[in-house]
Amino acid sequence: MDKHGSFNLSENAMRLPYTEAVARFCAPFTCDNPDLDDFFSTDAFFYDVELIGKTYAWVDASDPRQILGLITLANDSVKTHSLATTARNRLQRTVSNAKRGINFPAVLIGRLGVSSAYQGKGMRIGSQIIDYVKDWFRSSENKTGCRFIVVDAYNNEKTLHFYERNGFKKLYKTEEEERAFLNLNADEPLATRFMFFDLKKR
Ligand SMILES: CC(C)(COP(=O)(O)OP(=O)(O)OC[C@H]1O[C@@H](n2cnc3c(N)ncnc32)[C@H](O)[C@@H]1OP(=O)(O)O)[C@@H](O)C(=O)NCCC(=O)NCCS
Repeated sequence: MDKHGSFNLSENAMRLPYTEAVARFCAPFTCDNPDLDDFFSTDAFFYDVELIGKTYAWVDASDPRQILGLITLANDSVKTHSLATTARNRLQRTVSNAKRGINFPAVLIGRLGVSSAYQGKGMRIGSQIIDYVKDWFRSSENKTGCRFIVVDAYNNEKTLHFYERNGFKKLYKTEEEERAFLNLNADEPLATRFMFFDLKKR
């Protein structure tokens, strides 16, 4: 914690590529979501080896065995020609002189979890990880163009609120629009909502 009582991730934590060696060294991680915990304990390493998802860990600088949060990132794109018209217009409005049918380069947040011990304590670790990713992909050092951060956010109030609070917007304004686009049957739940953040937005 800094002198203002708030936790500063860049000063009080270290970012590491999340490997099996790091996981072995650290205390077991849980974010109270069994699917995510399972992913981070097994599949994350397979994704890394297969180059389909890269996971980063933030560990407590004063106690490096404590993982504060994990995020898995992958290259992605938003293919405007495959979007429903209203969603396409919503996205293209954000880009000046957008070419019709362009594929916008994006980075996908494949997974995100904050250690349950650090959630809801006013430390804002999840939000600071998102801020880090925003700066990272806007940086002049970024090797490729990347316009959006995208995520399939769990369709529950808390998670959607978290992403909205961090500047993300739903691509499909209503569940009906998104359900129709995904061709879901009436009895199939809409498990996630597709959200995006425009990296040109400050
Ligand atoms: C969602 C998550 C990454 C947010 O990280 P965090 O560090 O707890 O959140 P922050 O402190 O930065 O932001 C707090 C905001 O997020 C919301 N939030 C969402 N889920 C929350 C949770 N489980 N605990 C606390 N706040 C949560 C709060 O309502 C809060 O809003 P407010 O500031 O307006 O009150 C984290 O809670 C988590 O790992 N949850 C379980 C896994 C999950 O749902 N991952 C998202 C996958 S799409």
